[in-house]
Amino acid sequence: MTVNNPKTILITGANGEVGHGLIEKLGKLRTKEIKKIIALDLNDLDPILNDKVDVFVKGNVTDRDLLSDVFSKYNIDTVYHLAAVLSTTGEKNPELAHEVNVGGTFNLLSIANQVASKENRVIKFIFPSTIAVYGIPSLKLKAQNPKVKENEFLNPITMYGVNKLYCENLGRYFSSYYQSLNTDHRPLLLDFRCVRFPGLISAETIPTGGTSDYAPEMLHAAAKGKKFECFVRPDSKIHFMAMPDAIDALIQLTKIPENKLSGRVYNIAGFSVSAKEIEKMVKKHFPKSDISYKVNPERQKIIDSWSEDVDDCLAVKDWAWKAEYDFKKAFEKYLIPAIKNKYK
Ligand SMILES: NC(=O)c1ccc[n+]([C@@H]2O[C@H](COP(=O)([O-])OP(=O)(O)OC[C@H]3O[C@@H](n4cnc5c(N)ncnc54)[C@H](O)[C@@H]3O)[C@@H](O)[C@H]2O)c1
Repeated sequence: MTVNNPKTILITGANGEVGHGLIEKLGKLRTKEIKKIIALDLNDLDPILNDKVDVFVKGNVTDRDLLSDVFSKYNIDTVYHLAAVLSTTGEKNPELAHEVNVGGTFNLLSIANQVASKENRVIKFIFPSTIAVYGIPSLKLKAQNPKVKENEFLNPITMYGVNKLYCENLGRYFSSYYQSLNTDHRPLLLDFRCVRFPGLISAETIPTGGTSDYAPEMLHAAAKGKKFECFVRPDSKIHFMAMPDAIDALIQLTKIPENKLSGRVYNIAGFSVSAKEIEKMVKKHFPKSDISYKVNPERQKIIDSWSEDVDDCLAVKDWAWKAEYDFKKAFEKYLIPAIKNKYK
């Protein structure tokens, strides 16, 4: 088996929020650990990322020929498959969500699996899933089950959640069970690993299309001196994570030896807060902010179905996962200083 070191990395959805954070961070690991970064996105790459990637491919993850071409041109050994249609956009266009989230992920998994098998080398496939895979049926049950385990309440109510849950299983399938009935089946060399992100909050980018977006939108609006109408009730509670922790989780999960992993899908906890608590924190730092509430019943229903928090003891045990930022530290040490600087 050939081992590639340093790595050639493919990042799909490279122009998104996580893509920005990941490319910045991987840029710092250049030469030592990373040889080449291939970025792929449907949209043009933000010019600030241009000199941090080696190759940019403008294209669609549903285009199987294009993906095969990328794999045959570059000796890719790690894939960060970030491209997706997120929860709110997905509810507006469920067919598109399915096509991109399931079709695109299937394309990448099966091509990566074929290449790994043909070239007899391991390809790591890192996949960000989401707390949208949970579907807690009532607020009462949500309050009674504040920390949900990986295998609980897996009844998502959005197309996005349904898609991501299926793709987690597809990844496990390609890594562990693919063609197991074929007598001549080869060892499986696709190494699929997945974290379920909570809502992410970045100081650098503003989200579009997600349902946890009220938190980052509230903060960025306050920093820009704009009014903000929050689309969920003040008591709505889910968990969030500062973007640097989300990026660290992806990189830590990539580096851990496979024999230390007892599963392929991991919860990771950040901090669990209500919309009101976020409002208070935002007002502490931007006292003039004008925040009101106008509930969107459909988006509220989605937030109510997501867990308040998760039990991440598997990630803690297997790879010593610990978020660096709690609620206070995320705002005081990361978000507020960076956002004040951004909009000054
Ligand atoms: N941001 C969050 O709060 C959050 C939470 C949980 C999970 N995630 C997951 O993390 C990943 C990245 O999320 P993000 O916040 O960066 O999202 P984003 O919407 O900011 O970025 C997604 C990127 O994918 C690209 N894209 C969409 N469809 C594509 C297609 N068909 N082909 C190629 N590119 C396409 C978009 O142009 C965009 O640049 C996603 O898989 C998402 O499900 C994000």
